[in-house]
Amino acid sequence: MDYKLIQNVKVTVTDNLSNAILSILEEKKYRKPFIVMGSFISSVPIIKSLLVQFQKFNLEYVVYDKVVSDPPTEVVDEGASLFNSNQCDCIIAIGGGSTIDVGRGINILRVNGGKITDYVNPHKEIKPCYDMIAVPTTSGTGSELSNALIVTDSSMQSKLAVLSDHAVSEYAILNPDLVITLPKHMTIMTGLDAFAHAAEGYTSNLSSPITDAICEKVMYLIVKYLPRAVKDGNDREARERMMVAAALAGWMLNNAGTHLGHSIAHIVGSKYHIPHGMACSYALPGVLEYISPVESKKVKEIGLLLGAAYPENSTDLEIGNITAKAFRHFRDNVLGMSPFSDLNISIVELLSNAESVVSERFAGNSPCEVNIESARFLLEKLYE
Ligand SMILES: NC(=O)c1ccc[n+]([C@@H]2O[C@H](COP(=O)([O-])OP(=O)(O)OC[C@H]3O[C@@H](n4cnc5c(N)ncnc54)[C@H](O)[C@@H]3O)[C@@H](O)[C@H]2O)c1
Ligand SMILES: [Fe+2]
Repeated sequence: MDYKLIQNVKVTVTDNLSNAILSILEEKKYRKPFIVMGSFISSVPIIKSLLVQFQKFNLEYVVYDKVVSDPPTEVVDEGASLFNSNQCDCIIAIGGGSTIDVGRGINILRVNGGKITDYVNPHKEIKPCYDMIAVPTTSGTGSELSNALIVTDSSMQSKLAVLSDHAVSEYAILNPDLVITLPKHMTIMTGLDAFAHAAEGYTSNLSSPITDAICEKVMYLIVKYLPRAVKDGNDREARERMMVAAALAGWMLNNAGTHLGHSIAHIVGSKYHIPHGMACSYALPGVLEYISPVESKKVKEIGLLLGAAYPENSTDLEIGNITAKAFRHFRDNVLGMSPFSDLNISIVELLSNAESVVSERFAGNSPCEVNIESARFLLEKLYE
């Protein structure tokens, strides 16, 4: 037995965002932050007051607010040249997973040069990248702690992953006030992305007893607090717990990874423009059913966390089925996600993605091998 668990990001959970950021800038003697954000976030009062504080302390900062959801590679490349031409000394990425991924991508380029596609598998070497502060405004991707970043190749309509322990954030600041404005549907989708990270990490062939313990706790927190955050976006306790759950789940991405659910979500999500967390939540139940014959104990544990009951002597297949049903109940009835059929994607069109799912890079972490036939089975399951 030889399990390691490494966590290099310094995490702060705080009520006072400005103080937390200013104290890092002071400690590290940063004078010129490069602030990466989506255009919406600059209008949020907490962010406005943060910028006022920066002016008060004579910090010259540059704002790069070109981030869009599922960011194209060009946004990262352009941000890096702007960082360099302005000679900034650190990056503060404030936003959802898209923004933090862009911030971390810019950090790779300003240290290592080139374009972000140079670092997609098979990747160029990435030297350690410091000076990056991640401030999430969604509770989902866990990009603030994760070593993965996802960019979109617009010409191919595909998602590209860059993976490196050298490209994690140096700091993550979790401030629940930033998530209060997150609309209900985004709260659901991003929360289910975090659940998928934990459920897939728990059942991945990279999992270990130490990651299992954290994944179980993440799922517990999400089942308990996501319905509250969805019901009342101002429920600060629920928002804070969800932020913590999502960050821990992001950390698990580095240690246990995701597998088939994310493979399907990456292929289908980028092709049909389905928000990432939504795509993950459609894919997960079929995946749990599929892997149940080899991971029935863990699949059952996930179901128990979701409140499922299992008849004595349930078979592995029954366990998979009951767990998938429990997750769908949580997703559709408790949280209120709209069904996949609303997207009007024909079955013939959907099944045409089977080959891409098989070759998607995270599919190799699955405890069960996947072939074209099983990928078709998993894609069909999206309609349930
Ligand atoms: N790095 C990783 O490990 C990892 C893991 C999973 C997914 N991802 C990637 O992250 C991206 C998705 O990130 P996301 O789900 O956080 O969404 P997002 O960052 O794309 O944001 C979605 C929308 O919500 C808005 N928004 C964000 N915060 C808000 C707030 N507090 N109030 C109101 N609106 C707000 C944004 O402006 C945007 O319009 C995808 O590209 C996905 O592939 C990365
Ligand atoms: Fe994800």
